[in-house]
Amino acid sequence: MTEDIKVVVKDVVYPGKALAKRENGKTIFVDEGIDGEELLVRVVREHKTYDEATLVRVLSPSEHRIDPRCSHYRTCSSYQIIDYDYQIRIKLRQLANMMKGIYTQRIDSVLPNNKFDYRNKVTFHLDWENEVFGYRDWLGNVIEVDSCHLVMPILNRVWRRIKDRLIKVGPQHRVVSDITLRANRSGEVLVLLHIDNPKEEISEDWIELSCCDKAVVGIVRIKGKSVKGIWGQDYLEEVLNGKTYRFHSSAFFQVNYEMAEKALSLLKKEVIEEDSRVVLDLFCGVGLLGLSLSDTVRWVYGVESDSVCGKSLPINADYSGFGNFSYKIASSSDVVWEVFEDNTLKKKIDSVIVDPPRRGLSKSVREFLRKNSKIKKVFYLSCDPMTLRRDLLYLKPVYKVKKMYFLDFFPQTYHIETLTVLLRRK
Ligand SMILES: C[S@@+](CC[C@H](N)C(=O)[O-])C[C@H]1O[C@@H](n2cnc3c(N)ncnc32)[C@H](O)[C@@H]1O
Repeated sequence: MTEDIKVVVKDVVYPGKALAKRENGKTIFVDEGIDGEELLVRVVREHKTYDEATLVRVLSPSEHRIDPRCSHYRTCSSYQIIDYDYQIRIKLRQLANMMKGIYTQRIDSVLPNNKFDYRNKVTFHLDWENEVFGYRDWLGNVIEVDSCHLVMPILNRVWRRIKDRLIKVGPQHRVVSDITLRANRSGEVLVLLHIDNPKEEISEDWIELSCCDKAVVGIVRIKGKSVKGIWGQDYLEEVLNGKTYRFHSSAFFQVNYEMAEKALSLLKKEVIEEDSRVVLDLFCGVGLLGLSLSDTVRWVYGVESDSVCGKSLPINADYSGFGNFSYKIASSSDVVWEVFEDNTLKKKIDSVIVDPPRRGLSKSVREFLRKNSKIKKVFYLSCDPMTLRRDLLYLKPVYKVKKMYFLDFFPQTYHIETLTVLLRRK
């Protein structure tokens, strides 16, 4: 066992690690700590150029250290121990550092009123062997979680009821590995039951177990790529800025409704300011960003790879009453050029919205944006500033960053969401 060492935290760096130096000058990343704090830490992994450590004890606490609300807070992020204003200062500092050489102007912050109780989706893991149900810690072990202060209260209520019943599930029925709960603001909850083993199937008992609360409106079984509604409805609907959107079972939907509304307002403001008319919405999910612009732009063309989103897309297009919305279920990487060659859209697309997963844009999408001189504006919603940096550097010779916003979609965690507006250089 390694011995515990004392370090002084120099900075909190993305993604949420406390950076310090060992006596020999080697960098060490600790899982919790605030700049200025002296910590006792235990080295858990040694690498060539840096080490990783876990906090043992805080020797001199920062003035920004507060008591966390969740006992399991470290499974999500260590930021619950930092007062909210300082969390924002840290995130802005990290973002400014990562954008060096790309964007040096002011980054405006868009912050939520709800600093807790905001997540509308949560996944709990079931460790049947030890009869422990909750979140995974950094070692991959499941730890008991009864409720979480980051998720909507209705989800905690449903989870507690489900959890109380799990212990009674007989050994032959213990086939569910994870349970995802999703909620809307009308108080409806969807239960997603995940099965790891392709040979297993869930029994009727799981329907009874999941229907433990009047809020539950549907149960869906997920096995690999196979998604099957097994009781009630297989979707939820939510109203954002006055427009209704449906999202089916496992389809992506923004997890913080309040911040999603703020992001949509900001996107609309920028789209109006830049006079965008024909918009390609890559990574469109269930159509949220593109369709939110139905009264602002002339045409939206969406591209999304997940066929579950494809179930919701025509419905959301109908709800929006926007005739000029079309879409394709395919990978953006495969079809960007093809979409642009479409006769109805040819020469017309002037703007592109990109909202990729954490891995950011593929090379083919980046090249498409760079080489296509008809595209004058790109609105880039990003959930990972590292891949955003890579993509912006690639686009830099052709686009300048007009404006970057930091949107705090995930208070109490290290996550950084941004909206960047790029304009083609003349
Ligand atoms: C961050 S979500 C954004 C969804 C949507 N813009 C929204 O705000 O609800 C990213 C979406 O990209 C989709 N996706 C992932 N890889 C893709 C690809 N190569 N081509 C198209 N869509 C992809 C995912 O299924 C997911 O729906």
